[in-house]
Amino acid sequence: MDAPAYQAIQEQLRQHPQAWLVTGAAGFIGSNLVEILLGLDQRVRGLDNFATGHRRNLDEVARRVSAGQWARFDFQEGDIADIDACRRACGGIQLVLHQAALGSVPRSIADPLATHAANVTGFVHMLAAAREAGIRRFVYASTSAIYGDHPALPKVEDTIGHALSPYAVSKHANELYAQVFADCYGMETVGLRYFNVFGPRQDPEGPYAAVIPKWIAALIQREPVQINGDGETSRDFCYVANVVQANLLAALTPRADAINQVYNVALNERTSLNRLFELLRDLLAPRFPHLRDARPVHAGFRPGDVRHSEADISKARARLGYDPTHRLAEGLAEALDWYVSDLGSTPSQTPGGSQSRPKDAPAGHPKSNRS
Ligand SMILES: NC(=O)c1ccc[n+]([C@@H]2O[C@H](COP(=O)([O-])OP(=O)(O)OC[C@H]3O[C@@H](n4cnc5c(N)ncnc54)[C@H](O)[C@@H]3O)[C@@H](O)[C@H]2O)c1
Repeated sequence: MDAPAYQAIQEQLRQHPQAWLVTGAAGFIGSNLVEILLGLDQRVRGLDNFATGHRRNLDEVARRVSAGQWARFDFQEGDIADIDACRRACGGIQLVLHQAALGSVPRSIADPLATHAANVTGFVHMLAAAREAGIRRFVYASTSAIYGDHPALPKVEDTIGHALSPYAVSKHANELYAQVFADCYGMETVGLRYFNVFGPRQDPEGPYAAVIPKWIAALIQREPVQINGDGETSRDFCYVANVVQANLLAALTPRADAINQVYNVALNERTSLNRLFELLRDLLAPRFPHLRDARPVHAGFRPGDVRHSEADISKARARLGYDPTHRLAEGLAEALDWYVSDLGSTPSQTPGGSQSRPKDAPAGHPKSNRS
């Protein structure tokens, strides 16, 4: 059941549709934002250069909304490192949800220049283009990586430590630029520090894949699951429906004390990697009996990773009316059909359980992840 503030905003949007720009629309979180906004009969433009996103994510959104809703979507392929692409994308838009960035701590350690170009230069381009176009509000994705080496738990917005990666620096720069654009030009911005987000359309592939889709794909496909470190590293895993909620609340809150702020977006719950492994194994074992006795293998700790992460979400609750609808197990259960259809074949379809769906094939019809 959605929180009252979120219900009110959805009702308001249905009655007074807005024009939105979602950058990173072909990515995991961006495509979920597009889907929910179209489902609320909004006009939505997507901008993406497919650096890490996929056309199939947009194809899946097209299958999950009505033809009339899909007709209100237009897509521009472009790079936010190109200011003209940002200007074209902002034309005629009222609200921006800026998600485009190169995610991943290890990717940024391997290639800090690429991270800087997309996450810092691209971010400033988007802010400048949004300002020129007179955008009403600019909501952007920040990250829990900003807390760096600060040991306090749970993490509170105004206490951060030293950054441990170029990725953390790039997102901290976003927050500083957003504050300066608010101060110098009167822009309205809201930063959302996502913790570990998971859900449908999160990419399981490549060296920088997030742990949940990577492990589910490995479990289904009978490949080893590797835990970096002893497994007692913990994270505040946040289902994507909660992140969508936070974005919409941030974009539309009328409270003056809620804008030009940054907020943690998660659950205020910590789960160790060992516990996560057990949860995933137990969730999948009824469909994949070979998993009943599955065990992870442990490897060394990854540089740049923080040991524990857990969000204090009282600021988002108090000022935005944020009230997460899905805890970890609920999010995993809701996304299970998508994971099984997209990340692997069911044992009855593939006796060995070892083949994944070809990437251009349809992903089936998962249960709606709308809350
Ligand atoms: N997934 C998480 O757990 C998490 C946690 C904290 C913060 N974030 C942030 O949330 C946002 C969305 O992340 P995601 O998990 O959906 O990742 P994603 O990789 O699935 O999506 C990012 C999208 O941005 C696009 N993009 C990258 N560089 C671009 C550029 N130069 N120009 C245009 N488009 C570009 C990619 O092609 C991709 O579609 C990112 O800003 C990320 O840093 C994500």
